[in-house]
Amino acid sequence: MAENEKLPKLLILFDSQTGNTEKIANAIAEGAKSVDKAKVIMKKIGDPFGLHELADSDAIVFGSPTHYSGTSWRMDSFLKRLQEVEVDLSGKLGAVFCSYGYARPKIAYLPPTSFALAVLPLYTFLKSVGMRTIAPALRIRDEDVEKDLLICREWGRKIAEKLVTGSAHFT
Ligand SMILES: Cc1cc2nc3c(=O)[nH]c(=O)nc-3n(C[C@H](O)[C@H](O)[C@H](O)COP(=O)(O)O)c2cc1C
Repeated sequence: MAENEKLPKLLILFDSQTGNTEKIANAIAEGAKSVDKAKVIMKKIGDPFGLHELADSDAIVFGSPTHYSGTSWRMDSFLKRLQEVEVDLSGKLGAVFCSYGYARPKIAYLPPTSFALAVLPLYTFLKSVGMRTIAPALRIRDEDVEKDLLICREWGRKIAEKLVTGSAHFT
């Protein structure tokens, strides 16, 4: 690799209160890092964070626990702040994931508008700032996290692969 070659950068931005979404985020990062030439960065809401990190990213993956059918309040206020400050996310690639607790049919990938889960407001945000979706929304039930980590890794790997190869976006 040339010394100054700029690798496509994937930012995984998530919140987690009791650790489930963090485990999912870690597995997504693991999958993404397995792709050669993808630079993967993780930030949990509350970590020291500069807006340039968003501006510098080519793709941003947003993840949150489901709280009261939406995102956690920390993620909610983070997204509200983002809409107030001047950071242009339009045209960037993005994807959303969440964990949740209540029983639903077992389909990991689903249209983000299907259920009242955190993926819906995350997806709405992503679209409102003009980002392009690179993968279907991923949602994992809390008690299934450990056994679904492979799904999470695969999801992350595919996103990084699309980012690196510049293949068509998903709508
Ligand atoms: C305050 C609170 C509200 C929640 N509301 C919902 C909900 O509306 N729907 C749902 O499916 N799960 C709900 N859950 C369950 C969490 O989404 C689930 O346990 C999730 O995996 C927690 O993620 P975390 O460990 O990353 O914080 C709620 C949990 C908490 C603590």
